[in-house]
Amino acid sequence: MTAPGKKSHTILVTGAAGFVAGSVITQAPREWTLHLISRRQIPRQQPNWVLHRADSADPDAIGAIILQTSPDAVIPTAAIANIDYCETHQDEAFRMNTEVTRAVVDACVRTGAKLVFCSTDNVFDGRRGWYREGDVPNPINYYGFTKHAAEKIIAAEPHLKAVIARIALVMGMPLLGSARPFMVRMFEDLATNGPVWAPPGEVRTPVDVISLGRALLELSEHDYAGIIHLAGPDRIDRVDLVRALVHRTGGNPDRVQPIDAETIPNRALRPPDLSLDTSLARKILRTPLPGISEGFHLVMEAWERVKTGAEPEAYLPCGS
Ligand SMILES: NC(=O)c1ccc[n+]([C@@H]2O[C@H](COP(=O)([O-])OP(=O)(O)OC[C@H]3O[C@@H](n4cnc5c(N)ncnc54)[C@H](OP(=O)(O)O)[C@@H]3O)[C@@H](O)[C@H]2O)c1
Repeated sequence: MTAPGKKSHTILVTGAAGFVAGSVITQAPREWTLHLISRRQIPRQQPNWVLHRADSADPDAIGAIILQTSPDAVIPTAAIANIDYCETHQDEAFRMNTEVTRAVVDACVRTGAKLVFCSTDNVFDGRRGWYREGDVPNPINYYGFTKHAAEKIIAAEPHLKAVIARIALVMGMPLLGSARPFMVRMFEDLATNGPVWAPPGEVRTPVDVISLGRALLELSEHDYAGIIHLAGPDRIDRVDLVRALVHRTGGNPDRVQPIDAETIPNRALRPPDLSLDTSLARKILRTPLPGISEGFHLVMEAWERVKTGAEPEAYLPCGS
């Protein structure tokens, strides 16, 4: 991996104890200043991290911290990303995922900060697959609706420099906080004698959290503005994905069983094929977006480092 850059750059990350934030924060060059907003205590500390205890669901608090710190870029990772929870808690999800975005946009316009917004493949209905940036969203679950509504707020602001990063299903382990991405639950299932459950009929192009964090860092200082898809090149059903991951851990892939979505209470609709075309990202970003095999290697290597008390290596996004 490349050495840390020398360029000074200030970024602000909301939801700092979250899954994706952990990758962004721990890989940012040590020469950068990071303003981190979280409701929770961040378990580790670096000299270039400035912690702000605040609720990322509070638009006034978040807007005020952006105005006060005036960063070069804002990466608001905070969101209610649990698709089923969004479906059953729609007001809360709309406040967090959409209305807070309006406050972030306003503060970015006033400070001139670049916004790197974390959107989702769930803005599409999944009837076709291999979606490109210009394809028309048509969300079928409330989570996708809140994110698409946030995208529209961003796109409607002419004085904002912004990237809307539509992110595919993310593979990885938490590097900083105590998030519970699907791989954590997969390892928990593996530790029992029972089956490892995975939903069938959901085709995705998963991206590993290490490469995703690097791509978001790169976008924070990149000239590009507009929509960009961040995903891996492998198009795979979730059952086959979990089987492949279990196989790579040395486990028996036959333990992975499809779970009938109808049997899961309050499960929101999932689009069938959310594969993302990433030609644009591959053209403009230096950061590679590898497939499942290399991505799994990257996340396990970083997780092993974290477990031994070491930070993942810093990443030089755009070069010095
Ligand atoms: N994970 C994926 O597979 C995936 C895929 C596509 C897009 N995305 C998007 O990528 C971004 C990051 O996802 P993630 O998986 O890292 O999310 P996450 O770990 O589930 O949550 C991120 C953070 O959001 C804040 N948050 C969540 N619920 C909240 C609530 N009710 N009130 C206040 N704060 C709340 C928390 O921040 P603090 O606890 O630090 O305050 C939390 O750590 C999100 O915008 C998500 O929509 C994720």
